[in-house]
Amino acid sequence: MSRIVGGIGISHTPSMGMEFDRGMKDGFDPVWQPWFDGTRPVKRWLEALRPDQIVIIYNDHLNFFEFDAYPTLAIGVADRFAQADEGWGRRQYPELPGDTTFGWHVTQSLIEQEFDMTVCQEMSIDHGIYSWLPYLADPPWPAPVLPIAANMIRQPFPSSTRLWKLGRALKAAIAADPADHRVLVIATGGMSHQISGTRFGIANSDLDHFFLEHLHRDPERLMRIPQKELMRLGGSEAAELSIWFAMRGALSDRLEQIYSFHAFPKITGCGVVVYSEPAP
Ligand SMILES: [Fe+2]
Repeated sequence: MSRIVGGIGISHTPSMGMEFDRGMKDGFDPVWQPWFDGTRPVKRWLEALRPDQIVIIYNDHLNFFEFDAYPTLAIGVADRFAQADEGWGRRQYPELPGDTTFGWHVTQSLIEQEFDMTVCQEMSIDHGIYSWLPYLADPPWPAPVLPIAANMIRQPFPSSTRLWKLGRALKAAIAADPADHRVLVIATGGMSHQISGTRFGIANSDLDHFFLEHLHRDPERLMRIPQKELMRLGGSEAAELSIWFAMRGALSDRLEQIYSFHAFPKITGCGVVVYSEPAP
């Protein structure tokens, strides 16, 4: 029987990825150095954890899905996932490996649990995953990835509680997997920021800290905050924080917080939290 061994919540931004590439070549800009330094302990934890499978709940930013058919919840089942070209060319990283046996098992289980996933047998992945992944692991990537995309681009979004329940269903799917995988669940969504409209550039570090502080022991309190309130307080893209509930929902209340870190390099709050899930 497979089981979840840990969870990570982490923010993403295109600039985070660009600054990583630049920093590894020429040294980090002082405003980005704290974020790079702050992710080092997560990288070491992940190296020691050695998961067999990594499930990542993220959101696409119109780099794979388009408005003509935008799924609310989609799952990628393929043996590899290409990097999306977001307009400035692909960065020098390999594709993400996938495991279709595990992917089909999780897909079947989620649909049986009434999550009607859009199943994608081809899926390219944008900065939602590629921007932070090199901070946490070196290529070749440490384990197959099962990507689950939640719509955070066009209203209506899946609600925070819906994403929490998706996490619960994911937990059941993994527990029902006859293989013996040790699974890491990662959720990624931007922390406070807004990159469009008259409020461009607003952010709210207090909101980010409040979220990081309460996700561990009091996620219900956070889930009671309407997504529109997250957007009002933290900028329109702060709604992506609700994706983090899918990771937290997949873990038990016995989880142990290993690490939490927040920095504010530019425009967007950058945060990460690491939980370990004790063996049952
Ligand atoms: Fe995003």
